[in-house]
Amino acid sequence: MFRHILCPVDGSPQSNRALELAADLAERDRAKLTLLHVGHSTSPPEGLESYLSLEFKNTPQFATQDLIGQRIVEEAAALAQHGRKIVPEVAVDRGDPAEGVLAMAKRGQVDGIVLGRRGHGRLAGLLLGSVSSKVAQLAPCTTILVP
Ligand SMILES: Nc1ncnc2c1ncn2[C@@H]1O[C@H](COP(=O)(O)OP(=O)(O)OP(=O)(O)O)[C@@H](O)[C@H]1O
Ligand SMILES: [Mg+2]
Repeated sequence: MFRHILCPVDGSPQSNRALELAADLAERDRAKLTLLHVGHSTSPPEGLESYLSLEFKNTPQFATQDLIGQRIVEEAAALAQHGRKIVPEVAVDRGDPAEGVLAMAKRGQVDGIVLGRRGHGRLAGLLLGSVSSKVAQLAPCTTILVP
């Protein structure tokens, strides 16, 4: 039985399949469900954040990334709620997606992570994406990869 399920979402079909399972499990267990998107495409390389001025962090590029993330989690919340008696929480973060997922798993006392095996990535033939493989290897709790 899960108490807090974390579902990292990127809006891809695989991510939506993981979301359906996460929502079913959350409803079954009356668990808290958190949907998280980590915007990364315009983030600086890891460790270099401190070199950026506050002005740069507030540029339209970053703001747009946040808006996209907000849209992704809102659509995910609607999908999760469809036909179920659950009220998911949503969160948007910036940085390396896997690091963001792992950080929330630790600080949010998450006991189950449900995510897609692949996401939006275009490299056909890969069994796992970079986010799913890093999360699966480093997660502090049960992790379910949905094909
Ligand atoms: N930016 C993100 N924020 C939150 N969750 C994400 C993010 N990107 C991917 N995920 C989650 O991880 C799952 C696997 O996606 P991943 O990015 O690892 O695969 P990919 O896109 O096929 O490969 P890659 O991104 O390495 O090219 C997705 O189905 C989704 O659940
Ligand atoms: Mg990806």
